[in-house]
Amino acid sequence: MCGIVGYIGQKEKKEIILDALKELEYRGYDSAGIAVISDGKLNHFKAVGKIKNLEEKASGFESKGSGIAIGHTRWATHGKPTELNAHPHLGAFSYVVHNGIIENYQELRKELIDKGIKFVSQTDTESIVHLFEQNLATGVEPFEAFKATINRLEGAYAVLLITQVAPDTIFFAKNGSPMLLARDDNDVYFASSDTAVVGRAKEAYYLEDGEYGFAKTNSVKLYSKDTPKEFVTKPLPEDKTLAQKDGFRFFMEKEIYEQSSVMNDTMLGRVLEDTIEFEELDKSLFDGIRAIKICACGTSYHAGLTGAYLLERMAKIPCQVEIASEFRYKEPLLTPDTLFITISQSGETADTLEALKMAKRAGLKSLTICNVDNSSIVRESDYAILTRAGIEKGVASTKAFATQVMVLWMLTIYLAQKRDTLDKESIDTELNAMRHTPKALIVARLLHERIYRLSKRYLHGHGFFFIGRDIFYPLALEGALKLKEISYLHAEGYPAGEMKHGPIALADAELFTIALMPKNMLYDKIKSNVEELIARDATILAISPDTFGMADDYIKIRHADHPMLEFFEMMLVTQILALEISIRLGNDVDMPRNLAKSVTVE
Ligand code: G6P
Repeated sequence: MCGIVGYIGQKEKKEIILDALKELEYRGYDSAGIAVISDGKLNHFKAVGKIKNLEEKASGFESKGSGIAIGHTRWATHGKPTELNAHPHLGAFSYVVHNGIIENYQELRKELIDKGIKFVSQTDTESIVHLFEQNLATGVEPFEAFKATINRLEGAYAVLLITQVAPDTIFFAKNGSPMLLARDDNDVYFASSDTAVVGRAKEAYYLEDGEYGFAKTNSVKLYSKDTPKEFVTKPLPEDKTLAQKDGFRFFMEKEIYEQSSVMNDTMLGRVLEDTIEFEELDKSLFDGIRAIKICACGTSYHAGLTGAYLLERMAKIPCQVEIASEFRYKEPLLTPDTLFITISQSGETADTLEALKMAKRAGLKSLTICNVDNSSIVRESDYAILTRAGIEKGVASTKAFATQVMVLWMLTIYLAQKRDTLDKESIDTELNAMRHTPKALIVARLLHERIYRLSKRYLHGHGFFFIGRDIFYPLALEGALKLKEISYLHAEGYPAGEMKHGPIALADAELFTIALMPKNMLYDKIKSNVEELIARDATILAISPDTFGMADDYIKIRHADHPMLEFFEMMLVTQILALEISIRLGNDVDMPRNLAKSVTVE
């Protein structure tokens, strides 16, 4: 997602900001920009696409001597990735960069337009700079005007603001989106992540939600709830690669831990108080639609299977899921009353893209659930819902899967409301459970430690079966895929009730069964299936909120009152289990043999 940087000091500001932005490229972006005040003069440059485009635009510009600068890489959420929508956003004499989503931006925008302000972008961010200048016009000091501005913002933000009225100061605020400030002698740096400042500064302070303040050369004032706050900086890592991994051993591990926070991004502006909203969808999209066909590959296919259970059960719409490479050559029957949904983290998977083109040729409306804006699949689709997971580096997909499932769950409720298939109480239950999801996705230290200790018992054997029922069946498929991908051990996902129709013949002490046993969905049924395996001496690792004494090993998840919360926590367990087994086997977790992140060949 978006990246923010800032600098106060004597050095060449353009170079510092551009270098820092390059370090944030891994977060994913589609446009970038910088603004500099030196010698009291304001300059700004913006460009769509890669940072080298921005470098070209700013090539003739130099900013030596003392001054301030801010920069931004934008990952489009409100409005297309155009130059006008790129940050920094300009008021009459001030600039702002922002990461996050301002939920009440429409209200702010309307208020400002009514006062005669002209907006040039479609972003939620532009309101911030105009609001600041309006507040300043009441005659208060710039910091008071900034505070009054921040007080009006609802949603998530990390904000840096500069103004010609205070040409030596950067105003900053953080709530829900990451930001740190770093110092080196008299120089001050800001960034969304420490990779941007490693090598430049030795120490940093990671801002907490609700903190704001202003910085000048050699002086930083920090506040929380109107009270000045002392802060203690922490040493920064010296190694850049380590910094990109935020101290985790592998990107995959970092991405597993990120799932809780990216889920907030996925839901922002979509899960509202008593409804689901998708700004990106046309109100008439579902008119005349009687069925859904989902097409995807790999992990995205598993997300699709999960979505199909939800869509049929709650939105009461027939839903079929197909593996794209199979779909392409089976001469499928396609009727225009079917909505064609593709799911893809990369947006470039050749089989999914070709399946989409086939569906379009047959006259179907298309929607994609994708993590990369402007990717081929997004461009080819009539509609796109972005999963907003941020760039995923580990080849084995984790946070992309979690956010795909969340979008499908939200889409189900969106459709259930349109089709009037759920009563208000049930909708409230679903929305509440969604709001609890980020919490269910927090990795507890004890849970990780337990999985780490257990993992040493699962490095051999003649195979793994992950078993589950209902939505826990696709989760079992995904758990098995994760293990296969990074441990190279043989693993299969199976519907628990189907084991007795064949696979149970394999059962012995060396057959490892990972049993997904949620309390909120068919617990007794799966318990019987597990007992059948125990009777044949299979080794069972049970994952459940309740102790299951007959299992060989047991991993406890939190008690929850909704199956989706159990789903997401069990997903964490299966991901961490695969990770720890793979590490113990000495494999390259992030780049497993033979696999690619984006498969653009058939
Ligand atoms: C590759 C990746 C998988 C992914 C699959 C589908 O095999 O390694 O992680 O699930 O492609 O990719 P997509 O980008 O379409 O989700």
